[in-house]
Amino acid sequence: MKKQTKAIRTQAKKSQNREHSVPLYLTSSFAFDSAEQGKALFDETEEGNIYSRFSNPNVTEFVDKVCMLENAEEGIATGTGMAAVFASMAGLLKSGDHIVACRALFGSAHQIITQILSKWGITHTYVDATATEADWEAAIQPNNGKPAARMVYLETPSNPGLELVDLEMLGRLKQKYEFILSVDNCFATPILQTPIDYGADLSIHSATKLMDGQGRVLGGIVVGRADLMQPIRFFARHTGPSLSPFNAWVLSKSLETLELRVERHCSNAMKLAEALDAHPDVAKTLYPFLPSHPQYELAKRQMKAGGSIITIELEGGFERVKAFFDALTIPTLSSNLGDSRTIVTNPNTTTHAKLKPDEKAALGITPGLIRISVGLEAVEDLIADFTQAVEKSAEVVKEKVA
Ligand SMILES: Cc1ncc(COP(=O)(O)O)c(C=O)c1O
Repeated sequence: MKKQTKAIRTQAKKSQNREHSVPLYLTSSFAFDSAEQGKALFDETEEGNIYSRFSNPNVTEFVDKVCMLENAEEGIATGTGMAAVFASMAGLLKSGDHIVACRALFGSAHQIITQILSKWGITHTYVDATATEADWEAAIQPNNGKPAARMVYLETPSNPGLELVDLEMLGRLKQKYEFILSVDNCFATPILQTPIDYGADLSIHSATKLMDGQGRVLGGIVVGRADLMQPIRFFARHTGPSLSPFNAWVLSKSLETLELRVERHCSNAMKLAEALDAHPDVAKTLYPFLPSHPQYELAKRQMKAGGSIITIELEGGFERVKAFFDALTIPTLSSNLGDSRTIVTNPNTTTHAKLKPDEKAALGITPGLIRISVGLEAVEDLIADFTQAVEKSAEVVKEKVA
């Protein structure tokens, strides 16, 4: 059976009411039929829900669907994407461990690695997304007094620079060294790539993004190897970064249309990227499926389509960005992404504002960089709106200089 069919047909067991659409289990706890049953549920000789901090039918349905989409054995849902990233690291790493991470990371992941894990003696090495296999291998091995990597953590494509990491290459390195390969698959979604098929142990999502797809709820999930899920589950059960049943219910319903939506996001993004790339007033257009993307060949090999995010560079710095945003009529100015509504963001002043200047430089985050999360509007309308805003903002900046 195709995944699209399963994403629609995977449902929590019907109640005695025989509902067609799964009800919302808005309950903090579950009742025991007897003292015996309470005991059996707690000593895990009987399976069932106890307390929604660690299990709930809506959450289980959502987890089951993501595991199915990602080809994963088990999963744990969390209240946000960052909670999933943190739970996976806190559950699996201990003092003295070393993380090798791709330098091109979402700002909060970078803060967890550099500011939080470091307090507990977990060290890190950053590697460029485009580094060679030999460079990744050198970082994974013990060097300069640092131990061998216990975990390799990366995003591909990255936020906001759309850099790709070669998953096949890391899968090869995994056969030589013992590390946990953890991939934030948020930008691609399991519709475009399934990291576990390349040998990743964990695939992580901010479900807030394309999984919800309409900017309504926060959520996160980590899926992967069952044995690795045990310590993460222990951490999550006792520290409580749980996903609410309501958010799980919304997210599970959204997964029914994930494939449909991602296909349309990608075709809109491809057409808009081509139009922006061809425009003389756009200094640079980055999109994984544009032949001008430095890792185009890898993108074609690794992803089924280019995704929903385009990054452009406009000349004229923040003044140009302001004029461009003022001229746009359709997109929303917001820091979110993966929404049915097109969103534009200036990472330098918003999502990545807290990075130090050298960190921004390493990630290519310049004042004139704009991240576009392409929505599901008619692409002709988007192309017309972006084109007029590019031209108008170029005029405004020229007039200011003159
Ligand atoms: C790639 C990536 N990972 C993780 C996150 C964090 O997700 P959340 O906001 O759900 O905590 C984001 C948020 O923008 C993201 O872009």
